[in-house]
Amino acid sequence: MAYLCYVASTLALWGFAAAAPLQSRAIPSLAQVIDLKSLNMLPSVPTAEEYNASSAPWVPANFTSAGLLEKPFHVYDDEFLTILGTNPTFTILAQTPKDPIFHEAVVWYKAKDEVFFVQNAGNPDAGTGLNKSAAVYKVSLKEADAVKDTRNAVGEVTVTQVVHAPEIPNPNGATQYKSQILFAAEGQGPNIAPGLFVMNPVEPYNVTVLLNNLFGRQFNSLNDVTIHPKNLDIYFTDPTYGESNNFRPAPGLINQVYRFNDRTGLVSVAADGFVMPNGIAFSADGKYAYVTDTGIWRHGLELSNPSSIYRFDVKPDGTFENRKTFAFVDTNIPDGVHTDSKGNVYAGVGDGVHVWNPSGKLLGKIYTGRTAANFQFVGGGRMVICGETQLYYVTGLAAQGALVESQL
Ligand SMILES: *[C@@H]1O[C@H](CO)[C@@H](O)[C@H](O)[C@H]1NC(C)=O
Ligand SMILES: *[C@@H]1O[C@H](CO)[C@@H](O)[C@H](O)[C@H]1NC(C)=O
Ligand SMILES: *[C@@H]1O[C@H](CO)[C@@H](O)[C@H](O)[C@H]1NC(C)=O
Ligand SMILES: *[C@@H]1O[C@H](CO)[C@@H](O)[C@H](O)[C@H]1NC(C)=O
Repeated sequence: MAYLCYVASTLALWGFAAAAPLQSRAIPSLAQVIDLKSLNMLPSVPTAEEYNASSAPWVPANFTSAGLLEKPFHVYDDEFLTILGTNPTFTILAQTPKDPIFHEAVVWYKAKDEVFFVQNAGNPDAGTGLNKSAAVYKVSLKEADAVKDTRNAVGEVTVTQVVHAPEIPNPNGATQYKSQILFAAEGQGPNIAPGLFVMNPVEPYNVTVLLNNLFGRQFNSLNDVTIHPKNLDIYFTDPTYGESNNFRPAPGLINQVYRFNDRTGLVSVAADGFVMPNGIAFSADGKYAYVTDTGIWRHGLELSNPSSIYRFDVKPDGTFENRKTFAFVDTNIPDGVHTDSKGNVYAGVGDGVHVWNPSGKLLGKIYTGRTAANFQFVGGGRMVICGETQLYYVTGLAAQGALVESQL
């Protein structure tokens, strides 16, 4: 008996303990249970040429696209209910006809309760590319809160372009930094180097370059950035999406993750071994780093590359060790990644935001039915999700984001 108890508690520690059946728990009105077991055997399974990571999201038998969107909180495991809370809301805040202005770098500016985000650099519909930087935009969460109980609030919330100077060359990732916003930018053409840029989040939105070289060499195209909650060093990823999207030259460096100490100025490598290191986040306690590898998109679609999240242990000295394959996503790529205060991991994926517990068990999805490259917790159980041509607002979550309070 003692042995069984030990096994049970060990299993619980691993996050795989048996729990009460889902049906016995109250399901929020915008949530639905998806019984994965009913989908394990399909009458026929398409080839990779017919159905693969880049295809439209899977609509399983007996579901419809409309039905999947109608109740966008998809529950695979009852642990997800603890994250969702009793009555989460889901609102389409804004929409554009085709310009993908709701792309990445979602960041909360707490002092004014605003959320900033950026356009998709290099996307033909964005009209960016070599000679034009992707734009920065913002919305007010006061306006968003006023429509949180509406499913579709398109037209009711103002999306404001943030005209800043000097211009940040193709920003793509962002985080709070000393009450300002720190952007990772991909650079532009051969002569405007990628780097880290600090933007004043209020007018006149002036910008200061924090870092634009590695001992005199250009980075490839910085993608995402985060700050370690304990050592406050800046960690960022540097893949070659500028080259993939034809606005940066061939790479001069290996695609890897860097660490920047902004007190001493030292840039060092944190990890390599990726195809396309993309999103980066730390657990709230700083003990784990999560890095997404979106290698299936490099030079077009290369389906046997990673579409995965890797986890590292972060040692007390801030170095990474013990790389572990944490998750592989079922729909396109895991782009932006974030964590909550309890150690759960969230990634922006091809059909919404996927949520894993700390052991890497997929608990469920916040389903948008389209690419959600990035998102962010924006205080008090709220989340803003970028869906390229749509912007989403979620409230009422029981989960709280692992934001670095001292940087807000
Ligand atoms: C992936 O699937 C789509 C159909 O959804 C197809 O058009 C495309 O050719 C496939 N790609 C590969 C590399 O098989
Ligand atoms: C779909 O519904 C039909 C009719 O209720 C049922 O026979 C079938 O098993 C269901 N398929 C799946 C995959 O659940
Ligand atoms: C970008 O600007 C340069 C210099 O003004 C010009 O030569 C080049 O054709 C432009 N490229 C594109 C893609 O517009
Ligand atoms: C913006 O300008 C103000 C006033 O000169 C300065 O104090 C602040 O540091 C600047 N911020 C950035 C990010 O450049």
